[in-house]
Order: sequence, then structure tokens, then C-alpha cells
Amino acid sequence: MHIQATAYGKLILFGEHAVVYGQPAIAVPLTAVSARITVENGPPGSGVQIVLAESDAPSRILVDDQTLDNALAYTAHLVLQHLEYSGAQPDLKLTLHSSIPIGAGFGSGAAVSTALARALSTALERPLDKAALNDIVYTVEELHHGTPSGIDNTVIVYEKPVFFQREEALTTLSIPEPFTLIVAHAGHTTPTHITVGDVGRLFAAEPSRIGTIFEQIGTLSRTARRLIESGSTAALGPLMNENHRLLQALTVSDEILDRLCEVAREAGALGAKLSGGGRGGNLIALVEGNQEEMVRRALLVAGAARAFTSTVG
Ligand code: PMV
Repeated sequence: MHIQATAYGKLILFGEHAVVYGQPAIAVPLTAVSARITVENGPPGSGVQIVLAESDAPSRILVDDQTLDNALAYTAHLVLQHLEYSGAQPDLKLTLHSSIPIGAGFGSGAAVSTALARALSTALERPLDKAALNDIVYTVEELHHGTPSGIDNTVIVYEKPVFFQREEALTTLSIPEPFTLIVAHAGHTTPTHITVGDVGRLFAAEPSRIGTIFEQIGTLSRTARRLIESGSTAALGPLMNENHRLLQALTVSDEILDRLCEVAREAGALGAKLSGGGRGGNLIALVEGNQEEMVRRALLVAGAARAFTSTVG
């Protein structure tokens, strides 16, 4: 048998954090990075084994009751459960190859789970439909994030730009005018559950002030959707700057992200903001034409760990 399945990363353009509280957010697939799972037959009696191709750490994970706190083993377990696979496990070796940096805000966790669930269900000749896959990946996300909004699994499973709102039917976005972003990594990260937890405490302490900020972010996402769908993408720049300012007010930016956003704007970006959980991780800067290389270089000179161009749409 030789089966493989892939899942791409993702970028959040507008609305992170507020999306946890029911406001809309916009996210797009990031095809520059991906997770891939290959499946081979394992030795008889081996059950499902997961191998991390690029890891130095003990890399073989058996799927059993002891390993369910491991996201990969838990994904496999949920797939077998969903398919009502009873009796002995299938003897399969699943190998993970991923170019998605972990904890970088590119949705590594959701992409790895998606690729694994796709590969395992295909190997069992019962490929999951997108709704079932999305439910499984969300359940795995809950293991590490606590209260994920569901935006990561949705954009990664459906592989379409999404206007995402909790508890609402999926809305995909059409992008008539592609636009260009520089994606830069700050060089450090903070786990998303930490920033999400801090925002939760802030909201509990000051519900009125913080609730207003969530609503302002939701309004930005709605306006951004209209601009994207009407092809007025240059006008997204000021909205990104405003979204970044509101994320600062939620305490999820930091000095390095603020400085890198400023550097991108000074080098000619139309707007810049952090993207994802914050306090490190990624920022995105909107660029046009000849600014692209200048902004990318300026970010690297200012200390960004990496910076690359991504075309949206
Ligand atoms: O760190 P990321 O890129 O997975 O960001 C998650 C986005 C948040 O809104 C901060 C959390 C969530 O569950 O939506």
C-alpha cells in the first residue's frame, strides 16, 4: 500500500482572539507550508504506529489508551472510533513529514491532525467527509488549546479562505483581486492557550471595556470581508493597523511585534498586524508591487527570524 495525504497551514488575516468570543474572523490557507502523512502496511500485530520522520526524540507512537494525550495518537483513536473500527487495530505505519514550524501561528497542530485523519481513513478505504474531519480535528485542538474557536481546523480542513464565526454556517470568501502579504516570524513564540487565557482573565475583570474591543475587531473583520470581496484590497492596510492596535489593547502584542510592524510600515507596507495568538509568532504586512522586497528585507534587517511573500487569492 502507498497512500499519502497532505494538509496546508493557515494564516489569520483579521479577528484573532475576538473570534473566541463569537466575533467573525478571516483566515486563508497558507500553501507555502504543509504536513504530509504517508501510510504503509506495518508488521502483523503492530497496530497503528505513528513515526515522526524529522524528529530526534523517541519517534514511534503506538496508538493505545496510554497515548491519548498525544495529539497524533488521539487523532488516530478518534478516526478509528468514528469509523466504528472494532476488534484488533489495523497494522499500519503512518509517517509524518511536516514543513510547518510548530507554535508559529501557521496551524501546525490542526494541519498535522488533518493530514493524519485523511491518510488513516483513506487507508481504511473509508475517507472522511469534510464535516466529520472538521469535528475530529476540532476535538484534537481542544486537547491543547482548551477553548479553540474552531477557525484553525475549519480553514485547514476546507482549504478555502473563510469568514469564520463560531456557531455559524461556514462562509467561504471569494477573492477577485489577489493581494500580497509579507509573512514574518518574530523569532519567539508564546503558546496560544497562554494568550487566550490572559485575554479571558482580562475580559472577566473588565467585561465592558474588553467586550467593546471584541466588537470593534468584529466590525473590522466585516469591513475587511467587503473590501476583499469587492477587490478593494489596498484599503485593507489601515484596517490591519487598527486591528493591531486593538490586539495591543488586549495585551497580546509585544515590543518586538510592535517594532516589526512599525518597520514594515516605514518600509512602505500599506498596513501590518500580528497574526495568530500573539506575543511572538507571526506578523503580516500588506504590500503592493515594488514594496515587496523592501519590506521583506527591512523586516529581516530589523531582526525577524524569517520573512517570505504569500499571495492571497
Ligand atoms: O496561534 P494560532 O494562530 O493558532 O491562533 C489562534 C487564534 C486565536 O483566535 C488566538 C485562538 C482561537 O482559537 O481562535
